[in-house]
Amino acid sequence: MVGPEPQQPSRRPASHLRPLRIGDLEIAGPAVQAALSGYSDRAMRRVARVHGAPYCLHEVVVDKLLLQPGKLQRQILSVETDDHPIGGQIMGAEPVVFGKAARLMADAGFDVVDLNFGCPVPKVLGRCRGGFLVGDPPTALEMIDRVLEAVAGDVPVSVKMRRGIDDSADAERSFFTILEGAFERGVAAVTVHPRTVEQRYVGPSDWEFLARVRCHLGDDPVLLGSGDLFTAADCLDMIARTGVDGVTVARGCIGNPWIFAQVADLLAGRVPRAPSLGEQRAALELHWFESLADHGDRKGPGRARNHAIKYAALHPDGEAVRDAFVAVRGEAAFRAVLERYYPAERSAERAGDAIDLAAAAHRLKSCGVAGGRVASPS
Ligand SMILES: Cc1cc2nc3c(=O)[nH]c(=O)nc-3n(C[C@H](O)[C@H](O)[C@H](O)COP(=O)(O)O)c2cc1C
Repeated sequence: MVGPEPQQPSRRPASHLRPLRIGDLEIAGPAVQAALSGYSDRAMRRVARVHGAPYCLHEVVVDKLLLQPGKLQRQILSVETDDHPIGGQIMGAEPVVFGKAARLMADAGFDVVDLNFGCPVPKVLGRCRGGFLVGDPPTALEMIDRVLEAVAGDVPVSVKMRRGIDDSADAERSFFTILEGAFERGVAAVTVHPRTVEQRYVGPSDWEFLARVRCHLGDDPVLLGSGDLFTAADCLDMIARTGVDGVTVARGCIGNPWIFAQVADLLAGRVPRAPSLGEQRAALELHWFESLADHGDRKGPGRARNHAIKYAALHPDGEAVRDAFVAVRGEAAFRAVLERYYPAERSAERAGDAIDLAAAAHRLKSCGVAGGRVASPS
């Protein structure tokens, strides 16, 4: 045991939740949309916000790429007025470059700059970025210093970390060194995904570790949790069992933007409402429209289709719908799938009342993961 002794986690019943704040930014709910490479683009964020997501993170961006003038830079740095509050996430290996990229994000209007010390993709680790840094406290803290210096208090800075490179005592020591150093330096919030980098996505997220982090920090520092949040109940369960201030929903909101409203339902003492097939159709149509608006007619359909495949998990005939979306190549085919499987809403009828939320959550849990591996996880 290297970190703090295990104690009773400071339980935070949902009714006693304090408002989630990242620096000066007050966030209107404890469950936010995580950074998701290949997914959390503007279209996904818009759909999530329409369905109640109170804060969304941009997918991670490599600092060096952000510094290169051109189309990609313009695209990332054009934050639209209706896309707030938004966190911009960067990863990199060189402290000075990291600082410059953070400054660009702050100038572009990102409300928070989030630093990725968690991505487990081998190529990323090989370049000493992402999860590599959770095993290198001197460089990680130097990078935090340069970022804080560069943004000069103009926006809050947060950090996203896995719980260590591996299960060793050294790895845990490094984690706590970075965690404490981050808050001492003025980082406004830390999100902990309590899997190791080595673990990637195999095995469960260690919520007990999150509870230990909370005990170690005491009540004040703002702590968010990540990992295995597939339903609204999971979100409140993590808060209650670990004492985190908020949760970042990741795989659980791909194709399932309703999870945010369902968290609000639970907090208000209501039974979480499952989306009807008509509501699912409306969300799919919106997602398609927004994807084409953001990525154009060439790339947009592919992006939208990847999300549609995940939406299928909520459909009672999920496998058939999934296969139908997999075969979609253009708008006509997309509309044909909607016509076949998603009847437009008729008056007050809510076909979704029959949806089994637990079964849908199970399908969400397994979608995108094959043999314990995720398509492009960070
Ligand atoms: C497809 C995919 C892409 C991800 N991209 C990012 C990313 O860009 N930045 C990041 O900090 N985490 C990223 N993550 C990690 C998630 O934010 C989250 O920490 C992780 O999936 C654990 O949560 P879950 O078990 O509820 O999915 C990604 C995960 C997945 C599955």
